Amino acid sequence: MEQRLQKLIAAAGIASRRHAEDLITSGGVTVNGKVITELGTKADPDKDHIKVKGKLINPQLKARAKVYVLLNKPKGFLSSVSDLEGRPVVLELLPPALGKLHPVGRLDFNTEGLLILTNDGDLTNFVTAARNRVEKVYEVKVKGVPSASAIERLRRGVILDDGIRTAPAKIKLLQETDTNAWYEILLHQGRNQQVRRMFELIGNSVVKLRRVRIGPLTDENLKPGYFRYLDPVEVQKLMKRDDRKRSPRPTKSTGRQKQR
Ligand code: URA
Repeated sequence: MEQRLQKLIAAAGIASRRHAEDLITSGGVTVNGKVITELGTKADPDKDHIKVKGKLINPQLKARAKVYVLLNKPKGFLSSVSDLEGRPVVLELLPPALGKLHPVGRLDFNTEGLLILTNDGDLTNFVTAARNRVEKVYEVKVKGVPSASAIERLRRGVILDDGIRTAPAKIKLLQETDTNAWYEILLHQGRNQQVRRMFELIGNSVVKLRRVRIGPLTDENLKPGYFRYLDPVEVQKLMKRDDRKRSPRPTKSTGRQKQR
């Protein structure tokens, strides 16, 4: 998107708007190699090369513009930027000053828990692509107490009502009473309403569902309805491919081993 040069220079953290104007009028700014001295000239940092005193500022603009937040979505909000039916959407839980963010993947209207929102399409593609095996962990309360064999079926994979087979899942019993059971379920894939449909299939409907982990991200202190920023290390860890399933590289033997 085209924006005024002084605004872009200030957004890159190089100078205040006032100082940016001085830089422009004094001939210190080029766009695609051409010196620009007229205030109010616009440029598009996604297409144009903008230099201040010979230094490209596009990388700073790119790094600064990315926003990543982790929201604890409460029940009763759509994972969407808007809704034609006027239902509450998760964006209403964030300050408008954060700009245009979108949810990474989806949690159902009545599911609680961790949801990332960002303006970084690369991160969204990475986290939602099944091949990257980003783990999602849910706590689920179901009606009734499923048999051990029914849970084993879910662990191995079942064919959902749309004919798609679910990948193997890790499922751990957390608690059970006469009328309900709680499980922790770990998935790598995110089919529409997958957890609800899996338990529906074995005859135990979901009463409560909460996502408690996305890849390395957890946050027990984040209350429903609240958000926090992801720090750069968290973003980096999130975008790391899960290589644990690969065979380890053979280590070279030096022939000298420490005796213990
Ligand atoms: N599985 C579901 O059924 N619902 C969600 O919101 C997330 C995973």
